[in-house]
Amino acid sequence: MTGLSRSFGKQTVDEQERERRIRRVFEAVAARYDLMNDLMSLGIHRLWKRKLVRLAAPRSGQTIIDLAGGTGDVAALMAAPDRHVIVCDPSLPMMEVGRARGHAHVQWLEGTGEQMPLPSASVDTLTIAFGIRNVTRVEDALVEVLRVLKPGGRFLCLEFSTPHAPVRPFYNLFSFTIIPRLGAWIANAPEAYNYLVESIRRFPDQRAFKALIEQAGFADVSYCNLSFGIACIHIGRRPGPA
Ligand SMILES: C[S@@+](CC[C@H](N)C(=O)[O-])C[C@H]1O[C@@H](n2cnc3c(N)ncnc32)[C@H](O)[C@@H]1O
Repeated sequence: MTGLSRSFGKQTVDEQERERRIRRVFEAVAARYDLMNDLMSLGIHRLWKRKLVRLAAPRSGQTIIDLAGGTGDVAALMAAPDRHVIVCDPSLPMMEVGRARGHAHVQWLEGTGEQMPLPSASVDTLTIAFGIRNVTRVEDALVEVLRVLKPGGRFLCLEFSTPHAPVRPFYNLFSFTIIPRLGAWIANAPEAYNYLVESIRRFPDQRAFKALIEQAGFADVSYCNLSFGIACIHIGRRPGPA
């Protein structure tokens, strides 16, 4: 079904350690996560998420997964009584914060990008916002997304990306100096925010990530830059009739 094969083997010790570290990061920041997002992005992450939801165009009767959905803010924008909107995330503390907010018509499911407890071909649309770079095996996660999508189902991924050259120096200054300090003052978790900045820096740029999605077997892959390429939305479709 797909170009990339899943590396089914056991995780290496490094991968296990990375996964544990990521879990600790989100445990540490869960309570202050949304406040930090507002401060770090000056509220712009909300506009990016609204754009993601407009492109996802959720409809009546659909099953929609927000993978790595954390505290559920993207899911809440898509939720309505006539559809199933489910946050799928490995971090119980992040989902607890979201549950406590009482988002209406949002369901919560523990799972990772590499392994979602969902039947094959059961999902109409899968969104992921600022989550894919936390996944240890991105290729495996893309194959897993294809598995759960119905033929014709769509994948939409909002992620930080590589900004256009003229804005890069300002962006680097902001992300390498101000964000870790905000992380230390507001969330009392400087390490966590060093990790977040580092994971953004290491993530493939727009074109390289598009190529990865295509290699996994998605069709009609495209992307649109947001705020000079600071963030980007990639879209792909599971081949087959909708
Ligand atoms: C930066 S937060 C994004 C939360 C939310 N989507 C947002 O945009 O505000 C990243 C989320 O990815 C989750 N995560 C970490 N490892 C993951 C994995 N392997 N698969 C799926 N989600 C993962 C974390 O628990 C966390 O909730």
